[in-house]
Order: sequence, then C-alpha cells, then structure tokens
Amino acid sequence: MSALFQPFSLKDITLRNRIAVPPMCQYSATDGLINDWHLANYTGMARGGAGLVIVEATAVAPEGRITPACAGIWNDQLAEAFIPVIKAIKAHGSVPGIQIAHAGRKASANRPWEGDDHIANDDPRGWQTIAPSAVPFGAHLPKVPEAMTLQDIEMVKADFVAAARRALAVGFEWLELHFAHGYLAQSFFSPHANQRTDAYGGNADNRGRFLRETLAAVREVWPEHLPLTIRFGVIEFDGNDEQTMAESIDLTRQFKAGGMDMMSVSMGFNIPTAQIPWGPAFMGPIAKRVRDEAGVPVSSAWGFGVPHLAEQAVQDGQLDLVMVGKAHLANPHWAYYAARELKIDKPSWTLPAPYAHWLERY
Ligand SMILES: Cc1cc2nc3c(=O)[nH]c(=O)nc-3n(C[C@H](O)[C@H](O)[C@H](O)COP(=O)(O)O)c2cc1C
Repeated sequence: MSALFQPFSLKDITLRNRIAVPPMCQYSATDGLINDWHLANYTGMARGGAGLVIVEATAVAPEGRITPACAGIWNDQLAEAFIPVIKAIKAHGSVPGIQIAHAGRKASANRPWEGDDHIANDDPRGWQTIAPSAVPFGAHLPKVPEAMTLQDIEMVKADFVAAARRALAVGFEWLELHFAHGYLAQSFFSPHANQRTDAYGGNADNRGRFLRETLAAVREVWPEHLPLTIRFGVIEFDGNDEQTMAESIDLTRQFKAGGMDMMSVSMGFNIPTAQIPWGPAFMGPIAKRVRDEAGVPVSSAWGFGVPHLAEQAVQDGQLDLVMVGKAHLANPHWAYYAARELKIDKPSWTLPAPYAHWLERY
C-alpha cells in the first residue's frame, strides 16, 4: 500500500495525500499584485492532485520582496487578489496555503533570469534593505543592509501579524512563516549575518528571539484549528553543521512549545560559499533527525520529485509530507503521474473528465 497516497491530518485540515507543492516565487507580480499567471499556475497544480498547494513567498512589506516582481500581502487589495486562486485550489480538492516572508538583506534583487543580483544602488527600481546587522550576503548580493533598530523589529513583527490576518480573511487554510533561505528571519538566527550585541544577537537563545516572537505574535491571530508551519533552515553546510543542527533542533522544540504545528526542514543559505551536498532526496535524513529529536511533524523538499523517492521518504518515516517543487513546474499533474507510476489502484481523486477520459484508457 502506498504511504504517499495516505491522507494527512494536521489540526482541522486533512490533505488527500502526502504530496505538497512548496512555495515557488513566480516573479510575475506588479507592485505586489498577483494576476492571471498566478491563477493558472496554482490551478494547474491543484488540479494535478497535490494535497496541499503553498503559494509563493509573499512579502509582508514592500521592502520585504526579493525582487520588484514578487507577490505581496501588505494591504487588503493585494490580499483579495488571492481569492480566485484560493477558490480554484479548493475547487480541485486541494488545500490553499501561503508562505509569508520578508527577504531582509537579500531583497531588492533582479529576477533570477535577469541576473539574480542586487539592483544597483543608483537604480530607482531598488530600495534600501534591512537586516539584523549591516553585513551584506556577498557574492552576487553585495548591497549593505541597514541594521534594524528595535523599532524596526517591532514593525516587521507587526507586518507579519497583519499579513497573517489578511491571509486568514481571504480564505487561506494553512500558513507558513518563511524562516529559511537566508531571508530576514533566518538571518537573525545565523551568526554569519547577525552580529548584534543586544537581546537579538549573540548566543543561540538571543539569535532565536526574533523568530520566536514573530511566531508568538502570529499565533495569536492565526486560529488554533488551522495549521501554522515554519520553513526553517536547520543546517548551513559551512563546516559547523553539528552545532547549527543542535541549535536548530533546540529552537524547533521552542517553536513547537510556541504553537508551531509542523516544520518544513530546509537549509540556511546564509553564505554564498556553503558546500551543499546536492543529490536526490538528500535532505531526508536531516529532516528525520529534526522529526525524531524535536518530536514535530516535518516536510522537506529538494530532489524528491521522483515518485519512488517520495514514496520511500514517507515509508521510511523521514517525512510526513513531501514537497515536490520543480517537478510540478515540469508537470503540474505530477501527483496524478506519481499515482500511475506507483500503480495506485483507485486514487481517491482523478483529473477532471476532459483530461481523465482520454488518459485513463490505458
Ligand atoms: C522557481 C522557484 C521559486 C522558489 N521560491 C521559493 C519560495 O518562494 N519560498 C521558498 O521557501 N522556497 C522557494 N523555492 C524553493 C522550493 O520551494 C524548493 O525547496 C526547491 O525547488 C527544491 O525542491 P525541488 O527539488 O522539488 O524543486 C523556490 C524554488 C524554485 C525553483
């Protein structure tokens, strides 16, 4: 029996299977406003059978966008633009989630296919970035951020809370906080980026403070019956991984105590020189360690987009949910394809008749 195609319940939400579309920026919005591209993109993936579709990193403030073309949710009009996307995801039997984010020192960049580098300081399309300390990421992202004041910290936490409220008001049922990939929250936790000497810097407890406080503030407005998850980079691949993992697992336990329901286990991406051991499903054992040691349900991405690997990760108890990213860009009906590959006899859903009628004459 397939483990991948078993339902998964978290709080009051039940997913029809263990396949999730992770957040994937489309870099196709205008002033934060999403459009028909996003609707078509997310509709296809929900139709394809994934149990959960998490909408891309959506900025809680204009300066929290990675690029000028990133999606935003810093006002009601931007939030309401997601309503057709949410309706379409639900109409196809999937669950609509959203990742809310602030890009910190990695903000104000060009789109990946237009250089992926920081917008030049004298280019009016760009903006001043903020971060825990005035330390640039380096390499293609050399812009020096402004070190955040305590007032800035309060403001960004309030932006996350307002974003969560709006996400709930328009109908999202699953909220993910983006605490990964070297963006603002992750950079608070990283000694590579955070050199503060106040209560938000120094030891691991202080470096975790912004993250814990943001979670606590969001938890107050996000209802108990709906999942609140965190995408967190638990490892840096910088040669100091044992210590980073120990600190990350400790913080994960605190997230759990603070109301986090599940963790999407990822990488830190705080330095351009990380030695990442790319390979199929390579985050599986790391995610399992977090799952076992912190006692939280986990998901992960990175190279699980091959049906038997996704199936194995669930069977082996590495993952509760499998994030399948780029394989969904290649084939939005990846879950349907995986069900056929894994010879699932009668999946609980199928594609709509205009497709299924032809495809199921095998
Ligand atoms: C086009 C693209 C956009 C992405 N945007 C985000 C994002 O908004 N938030 C995030 O946490 N990860 C983002 N990622 C990372 C993916 O969620 C995922 O972790 C990654 O693609 C690895 O999984 P895969 O091997 O199945 O593609 C993005 C990846 C891609 C390819």
